[in-house]
Amino acid sequence: MKRIAVLTSGGDAPGMNAAIRAVVRTGLAKGWCMFGVRHGYAGLIAGEIFTLGARDVGGIIQQGGTMLGSARCPEFETVEGRMKALSQLCRHEIEALVVIGGNGSQAGAHALSLLGFPVVGVASTIDNDLYGSDVTIGVDTALNVSLEAIDRLKVTASSHHRAFLVEVMGRTCGYLALMAAIAGGADAVMIPEKETDPEVVATELRVAYDNGKAHAIVVVAEGARYNAEGMALYFQTHRERLGFELRMTRLGHVQRGGAPGSFDRLLGTLLGAAATERLADGKHGELVGLLKGEIAATPLAEVVTNRKTLDLGLLKLARTLAQ
Ligand code: F6P
Repeated sequence: MKRIAVLTSGGDAPGMNAAIRAVVRTGLAKGWCMFGVRHGYAGLIAGEIFTLGARDVGGIIQQGGTMLGSARCPEFETVEGRMKALSQLCRHEIEALVVIGGNGSQAGAHALSLLGFPVVGVASTIDNDLYGSDVTIGVDTALNVSLEAIDRLKVTASSHHRAFLVEVMGRTCGYLALMAAIAGGADAVMIPEKETDPEVVATELRVAYDNGKAHAIVVVAEGARYNAEGMALYFQTHRERLGFELRMTRLGHVQRGGAPGSFDRLLGTLLGAAATERLADGKHGELVGLLKGEIAATPLAEVVTNRKTLDLGLLKLARTLAQ
């Protein structure tokens, strides 16, 4: 009988619970003993490891967040921290670990696997910046939350003839911002991958105003050189040129807290089940993700050394459509 543990790490993402449930129930169906780790790598270091039965993961598929809790854990970045985690895994006789999370979490998974411990990663982050999965758990729900906000902002913006700077998450990646801009029909977008001069945005807003638009939306990624606050400050002295009165809304963690939609429930389920199946096949040291519409495994060594790129052709499209 195998003893397998699962943890969630880094920023939580809607659909993580579906993945936990699938990991656990796929393992139980094989007659394995399944375990959960509380609060990511921090809980692993502290030995917060407990058994998970089928009922323990019941009623969670529709819930946002993660029933295991999550954390960012600087201690796990040290050799001492990793050795402590390893000794906890040995003490609990855990034979393999499933790590559900994004870049930092998969770097930790890779480090553990380099120490000889079997680990399979599951691609999950609302940022969608993880190599090895075209789309990660949580992105779709986070995007829908952003779109709902943008749609609402357009309503009040129209009433007052205003422009809104809407800041979405994405520390180093403009995926959410770019997709929200395209799907939300924004007039301008700022992303970290391609710096945009605020003057260009000022012109775009002025054109929108002169074209008789009742409102304008600028989607700004938090990691862009000028974030929403930076842009608001910049425009303070240029406001008369814009035509529109300006307001700013930062969506922040609101985007992470949504209940998972059908896509993230299914993606979480498929990836979670696939992770357990990979372990059953004797595979580890890899990440399961969705590549070209198929569930696929990528070596963790490749995941941590490659950077996912954003299709900048879509930035051009966003600009073309903002007429
Ligand atoms: O999980 C990714 C992310 O949501 C980023 O978009 C954001 O920059 C960061 O996490 C925020 O982290 P925290 O929740 O630790 O403040």
